[in-house]
Amino acid sequence: MVAIEILTHGHRKLKKDFNCGKALLDSYLRIQASQDVKKKLSVCFVCVESETGKIQGYYTLSNNSIPIGAVPEGYKNQFPNSYRSIPTTLLGRLAVDARYQGLGVGKMLLIDALQRSYSISRSVGSFAVVVDPLDEEAESFYKKYGFILLPDSQKMFLPMRTLEILFDRK
Ligand SMILES: CC(C)(COP(=O)(O)OP(=O)(O)OC[C@H]1O[C@@H](n2cnc3c(N)ncnc32)[C@H](O)[C@@H]1OP(=O)(O)O)[C@@H](O)C(=O)NCCC(=O)NCCS
Repeated sequence: MVAIEILTHGHRKLKKDFNCGKALLDSYLRIQASQDVKKKLSVCFVCVESETGKIQGYYTLSNNSIPIGAVPEGYKNQFPNSYRSIPTTLLGRLAVDARYQGLGVGKMLLIDALQRSYSISRSVGSFAVVVDPLDEEAESFYKKYGFILLPDSQKMFLPMRTLEILFDRK
């Protein structure tokens, strides 16, 4: 059994063991994430194994925006001319501990993050979920789930309208 919960002081010991194979993502959870949560810069959700308290994976969410120029051509005509940027939700980081990779944890965390982002967008407007993949491996993971590469950047997005169709389908 696992639970997905907000990172708190209670996770401080076990987050030190987290190792996904990407040093930047490991050190973010170990050192930076709690500070960011405290300062309200982002929220970090951890997937915790109920029996052991071990952290299997994590992701972070925050508000952000992208300039109109960064939006793919096919979407641009939806926005009034006066708009310089559009509100989005940033799925800043997502990682699974190497001991749990290949078991569906990444997929479960991604779906949880997308459901949460869609749910919040019903009260605070957001046009899309944006990710900023670290490398080609991460890019191919997000591509598998429908994320579209933004022109002239490494970032990718998934329109909230797509999530609405997915999650509101009866
Ligand atoms: C990328 C990562 C999050 C995937 O998590 P995971 O738990 O190993 O993946 P899952 O077991 O949930 O895989 C779900 C599906 O995605 C596929 N998949 C996994 N990694 C993939 C990749 N890099 N590219 C394409 N598909 C991938 C799996 O084959 C599986 O497909 P299936 O459902 O058709 O069988 C994980 O490997 C990881 O943390 N890597 C290091 C950190 C990282 O690169 N994070 C990316 C965001 S910055």
